Amino acid sequence: MKVTITGIKADIGSVGGHIKPSTRVLEAVKNYVEQHHKGVLIDFRISYTGDDISILCTHTQGICSEKVHKLAWDAFKAATEVAKDQGLYGAGQDLLKDAFAGNVRGLGPAVAEMEIEERPSEPFLFFAADKTDPGAYNLPLYLAFADPMYCSGLLLSPSMFKGFTFRIMDVAYTEADRIIDLNAPEDLYDIAALLRDTERFVVEAIFSRETGEQVVAASTTRLRNIAGKYTGKDDPIMIVRVQGNFPATGEVLAPFHLGHYVAGFMRGSHVGPLMPVTQNSTISFFDGPPIVSCAAYCVHEGRLTSPVDAFDHPFWEYVRHEVAKKAIEIRRQGFFGSAMLPYSELEYGGLVKKLEILEPRFVNRAHTQEV
Ligand code: 13P
Ligand code: 13P
Ligand code: MG
Ligand code: MG
Repeated sequence: MKVTITGIKADIGSVGGHIKPSTRVLEAVKNYVEQHHKGVLIDFRISYTGDDISILCTHTQGICSEKVHKLAWDAFKAATEVAKDQGLYGAGQDLLKDAFAGNVRGLGPAVAEMEIEERPSEPFLFFAADKTDPGAYNLPLYLAFADPMYCSGLLLSPSMFKGFTFRIMDVAYTEADRIIDLNAPEDLYDIAALLRDTERFVVEAIFSRETGEQVVAASTTRLRNIAGKYTGKDDPIMIVRVQGNFPATGEVLAPFHLGHYVAGFMRGSHVGPLMPVTQNSTISFFDGPPIVSCAAYCVHEGRLTSPVDAFDHPFWEYVRHEVAKKAIEIRRQGFFGSAMLPYSELEYGGLVKKLEILEPRFVNRAHTQEV
């Protein structure tokens, strides 16, 4: 059976700063989808990660379905009214346009979706991250789908011998979706050359070269490109099918033990380590650290099981400890050097203004002149 798995997430307001949505707002999203999904969705789950709410759903309408996207948009709109009524911080933050226009891409919410031919058993993972941007998934995807040091299946499972195709988007290009398909393993160095630049190139999708099936769908929204200014971080979601012809669940999770440094800590302007957390985790230290959660599901005829919280395990307690140390370490150098994002990526205009003010006070001195 052909089924579409769609994840749509938005920040529509949170309690006590950019920390977590209120119970009433979450209920409002859930109730709206519950009351309006008949004839559109087969199943759905609502969750949150930091201040972002995700609607994960299944249906048979294909990707970019107007009905499905409108349902999510309307649910977020309705719940935004509750957020306003409660005086939540950043109510409606990610709903950047007033009117719905066909689908939610380009309107603010993040979208990750793929249409699949359901396998007899269809396990998949749903990742949601907060206080970071889509480039945060570049390294874990590279390691899980192209590096046998992390994905033993590339050596042990004949159906993965041919490797995977990475579809990479240039998110700095705003005229159209500028994408390139590169094949692992033969284009490995080209894939690496692009993916190292996490603010410009992000993985949009990955396909099995053995079967042509899509394995990964990740959101690529850059809110600044839509709003023209900083309105919040791009907090990405991602769907990854696992097992069989694809990496095992544990191979996809493994790279997250690194707690690699990503953009998005405090005001979307600092670098911090990505901490794997349990579902429905909140935000704290320095508006972070950047976090990622993972819910594991099986889907059958579009019906979702209950989620298993993939980072809720004693192993990840130890990892969180180590990642907290990395967070403190980089915070010790405040705004200096690589602790704060480069000028081109800064999400606030304050430093640009400062340079403008200082500009007339600069003087040009000849190289030969004495100090
Ligand atoms: P099982 O033998 O438990 O199914 O595990 C297989 C596997 O691939 C685990 O990574
Ligand atoms: P969010 O994008 O998660 O709302 O975070 C915004 C921010 O600037 C936190 O410091
Ligand atoms: Mg927020
Ligand atoms: Mg957020």
